[in-house]
Amino acid sequence: MMIKAQVDELLAQMTPAEKAGQLTQYFYFRLPEGAEQVLDFDADAQPKMVESKLQEGVAGSLLFLTDPAEINRLQRLAVEGNRLGIPLLIGFDVIHGLRTILPVPIAMAASWDLQTIERGQAVAAREARAVGIHWTFAPMVDIARDPRWGRIIEGAGEDPYLGAAVAAAQVRGFQGPELGTPERVIAGPKHLAGYGYALGGRDYDEVNLSDSELWNVVFPPFRAAVAAGAGNVMTGYMDLNGIPATGNRWLFTEVLRETWGFDGFVVSDANAVRNLLTHGFAADLTDAGARAVNAGVDMEMAISDAAYAQLPEALRTGATDAQTIDASVRRILEAKIRLGLFDAPYVDEDRAREVLSDPAHRDVARIAAERSAVLLRNEGGLLPLDVTALRAVAVIGPLADSARDTIGPWVFDFDLDETVTVLEGIRTRAGDAVRVEYARGIPVVQREFPSLFDMFGGNTPSDPEGFDSDAEFRQAVELARDADIAVVVVGEWQNMISEMASRSSLELPGRQLELLQAVVATGTPVVLLVMNGRPLDLRWPAENVPAILDIWYPGTQGGAAVANLLFGDVSPGGKLPFTWPRTVGQVPMIYAHTRSHEPENQGKRYWDEASTPLFPFGHGLSYGRFDYANLSVDQPTTTTTGTTTVSVEVTNTSAREADEVVQLYLHQRYGTASRPVRELKGFQRVTLAAGESRTLSFPVGPDERRYWNAAAHDWVTDAATFDIWVGGDSTATLNTTIEVTAT
Ligand code: BGC
Repeated sequence: MMIKAQVDELLAQMTPAEKAGQLTQYFYFRLPEGAEQVLDFDADAQPKMVESKLQEGVAGSLLFLTDPAEINRLQRLAVEGNRLGIPLLIGFDVIHGLRTILPVPIAMAASWDLQTIERGQAVAAREARAVGIHWTFAPMVDIARDPRWGRIIEGAGEDPYLGAAVAAAQVRGFQGPELGTPERVIAGPKHLAGYGYALGGRDYDEVNLSDSELWNVVFPPFRAAVAAGAGNVMTGYMDLNGIPATGNRWLFTEVLRETWGFDGFVVSDANAVRNLLTHGFAADLTDAGARAVNAGVDMEMAISDAAYAQLPEALRTGATDAQTIDASVRRILEAKIRLGLFDAPYVDEDRAREVLSDPAHRDVARIAAERSAVLLRNEGGLLPLDVTALRAVAVIGPLADSARDTIGPWVFDFDLDETVTVLEGIRTRAGDAVRVEYARGIPVVQREFPSLFDMFGGNTPSDPEGFDSDAEFRQAVELARDADIAVVVVGEWQNMISEMASRSSLELPGRQLELLQAVVATGTPVVLLVMNGRPLDLRWPAENVPAILDIWYPGTQGGAAVANLLFGDVSPGGKLPFTWPRTVGQVPMIYAHTRSHEPENQGKRYWDEASTPLFPFGHGLSYGRFDYANLSVDQPTTTTTGTTTVSVEVTNTSAREADEVVQLYLHQRYGTASRPVRELKGFQRVTLAAGESRTLSFPVGPDERRYWNAAAHDWVTDAATFDIWVGGDSTATLNTTIEVTAT
């Protein structure tokens, strides 16, 4: 039967309560102790409440389940409890892997490697689907320009062009070529729109965005995710320009559906429909439900007391209408049919175990971690280390041997026993001939205000029993003094970054800087590894530590990847997906700012500190060396509809194979708006053998040149002179120009 006919037949038999049920998704989890105070509901009663909804046939979807047996049990309750046998859609936050944990999303973006990103999310999808998850609340495609905001770690950084490319690659990885592809899940780009601009970087706070910023910067990754076929989109918690996103009809109907042609379904963020009351927007729960569904939010993600349970009442009062409800139910049923859930609602638990332990998945995770590391500094070529020349290595810092921190936040079904820490990775790679010794050096640091996520087992860091801070500190310094090289790992504990993890400072928490300074003072050469999801204040290390490698939270195989990088089995090739500020007082700081009064003083906008970044957007060193030459354009003059091909020759002048991310930046010199000093408009990650040269080409056409003009309220392509730079970061100097004339 055609999908439409099957949906028609179901719809014709459904009561308003059953329809409202299909539009409602409930959390199902047994909460850790204390969580009910944060969430304001009865943790024991919640699973019972959800099960009774399933038996009454008035819940369409669940989230927060990963155990295939439990998923099958609840699915059976739904299928058998429902008069029409409609299966559940199971959603979950599979952000960077389910059992095999990949590097965190900001790290994956730092690879600038779309194939690795796609492959990684295909692995995540395969594991998720095997346990019975049909849909992931990912990718998060929110542009983030304020690193105080903890969720910067979940996205692709500050740039709309990179963000759009990474968003599309993730959607392809999760979903495959079309919705319903075996071993894949529905992708749900989130959070439309502007969440990354929370005032002061404070999670959930209001967002005020100009028309230009919205269309030119915030929307492109969403548009790209939709164009790649994303089956779902999630709303955001916050007010956008005074209207709560979840009640914003312009966003979800006019922009998302009518302008971008989105044909999937929209889900609210958790409790965000109810929150329309909190915002002082909706008058009561019925009003909240009606206004969200009228805005185009098909499904409510609810913890308890769903607003959408009031939709039958809203229908009676005329606050919404049958057509709107039916259109939303249709989208949900279509997704269930396209995923094949009516035919095969249950999963094979034995097969799930096999898929979760597939060694090929670990290889994908290791390669992703190798490709996402960013070499920030390498004075005197300290890296790579020559293993044959070493007798003793000191590995220092509590993060160096913390499996939980190595895999980062937003993971729930991990296996710490198989997680390779930095210490373990170095020990294995260095072999028996090298003495690898470890000292934590300092105690862990606790958050001033714990979050909900801290309540999940093992998420709060702790010191080993009997930990003696002074003795540990001394021991770390001694170890460093006696070693040929000290590898110091600093950063943030994983519970300090992500949702509910915004910060007012970017300093290294606790005594980490003090420890690093004491180790450097021994005179032993130091390699600094940074475990992070946001830029941290590295002003001192950037002047005093010869080698700094950003390893992010590198995942299940993190330590193995780090060791391969340190010892030169692979060369780092990642590049920063954000501008790295010197200090928190500079944020937000972006490379694509516009030109203003006294541009020659751009670096002196503050009197007390340079207003330039510590490391620019796109920065990342290599063990290779790259030379750029012969930048040329095939048509120096073109029209507003014409495309110019830009070519450049890149040579690896070093004696080893290495990767480079070749980046193209564009600037419009004049026009009907003032445009950023540079904007990324093309990139390619290439592997070049020792001495190899390659000519790369990039199109610069109307798509690259057009922008949203806030005065015209439309897209424009101006006739103007354009500067083009190509190089290895956003400060590239090799340049040319093109003239664009009116058509
Ligand atoms: C987050 C979403 C997430 C949802 C479900 C919310 O608090 O904002 O990004 O998908 O929880 O876990």
